[in-house]
Amino acid sequence: MDLLVYGIGELATPVGREPKGGAGQGELTLVRDAYVLVQDGRIAEVGEGRWPRFAGPTLDAEGRTVTPGLVDPHTHAVFAGNRVQEFLARAKGERYTGGGILTTVQAVREAPEGELVRLARPRLMRVLELGTTTVEIKSGYGLTLEAELKLLRAIRRLGEELPLTVVPTFLGAHAFPPEIPREEYIRRVVEEMIPTVAGDGLARFCDVFCDQGFYTVVEARTILRAARAAGLGVKVHADELSGVGAAELAAELAATSAEHLLHVSEEGIASLARSGTIAVLLPATAFLLDEPYPPARKLIGAGVPVALGTDFNPGSSPVASLPLILSLAVLRMGMSPAEALVAATLNAAAAIGLANEVGSLEPGKQADLVVWDAASYEEIPYWIGQNLGQAVVARGRVVWRSSPTPSST
Ligand code: NIG
Ligand code: FE
Repeated sequence: MDLLVYGIGELATPVGREPKGGAGQGELTLVRDAYVLVQDGRIAEVGEGRWPRFAGPTLDAEGRTVTPGLVDPHTHAVFAGNRVQEFLARAKGERYTGGGILTTVQAVREAPEGELVRLARPRLMRVLELGTTTVEIKSGYGLTLEAELKLLRAIRRLGEELPLTVVPTFLGAHAFPPEIPREEYIRRVVEEMIPTVAGDGLARFCDVFCDQGFYTVVEARTILRAARAAGLGVKVHADELSGVGAAELAAELAATSAEHLLHVSEEGIASLARSGTIAVLLPATAFLLDEPYPPARKLIGAGVPVALGTDFNPGSSPVASLPLILSLAVLRMGMSPAEALVAATLNAAAAIGLANEVGSLEPGKQADLVVWDAASYEEIPYWIGQNLGQAVVARGRVVWRSSPTPSST
């Protein structure tokens, strides 16, 4: 896949292969009058001024802004059914406690693998159209060995079929299945599910919902230690509904990421800073559940690298748009547009173990980029709820273009 993208008015990208914390969180390189040359699906050159003669396919950015393809490091985007009734109940003031997860579990158990793929395909194409070229997807709506494997196989098929880079995470410890005792389910997660998932290479990470009413810190520790021993990376759904010390656990385990953190404690923040764990913040859940936003400024102040994601799922966040997440981060969490863009590119890539591959526009990385109908990257969070995307390039191929405005004649 070779391509020349030229006529770039502003190219905005973080640089490097490591997550950026503290002052680095807002470090973007801006190149005016830029071009990007792609060879074999990877970036060969990011240049300024006159672009080289090129015989292959070209894409004219017409003076617009180009950023790396966005990276969504936390979704539950493969599921069956929907929870519109729960959404409406919440709109009337009912509180979210996570109970609705079992509604989706029921629908997923009833759906064959092919149906899960068929349902997720258009959903993930919308994710792509909104500028996301890499997405992490968690299982966790099966809660039996068979149904969790079905979800992970569907996730794998979607990654093979769609022009998205997909990172699968095993979240068997999402809720408790109603049909067996809690201890028995944890035993199965540890002794049956983790070895099978890891053995079949169906997931790169293991995650646990460590929160009030879900897995305790002690239970999460047991599960995540087993996951690490089986060769999986470690993530934690931490302190989303209440502060239970899950961030401290993530730090103790030197987890790759602690995610949500709406109710993280001061000690939790300090321990994440010490362990180098990335904070994956998901402001759509705060917006939808009417909860406090996660403390991005405190985390950045403590030097914790912050990433942003959608948490795309049918319950707490039916949100596919990372640009909308950037708007919430800037408007409600005090992040600058530069900090938010680094959070949704390089830091998000690091949070899913892909900082060597994606998350910035520099030679050697996968050629994933977005042309935005904007004069500067700062407009991406500004035009709220709109898709400024003009073209999406994944692995050096133009995989989506906005359709031209219909003419009036
Ligand atoms: O990230 N926190 C746990 N899981 C999801 C919610 C999933 C659901 O409501 O279906 C979350 O918010
Ligand atoms: Fe989640």
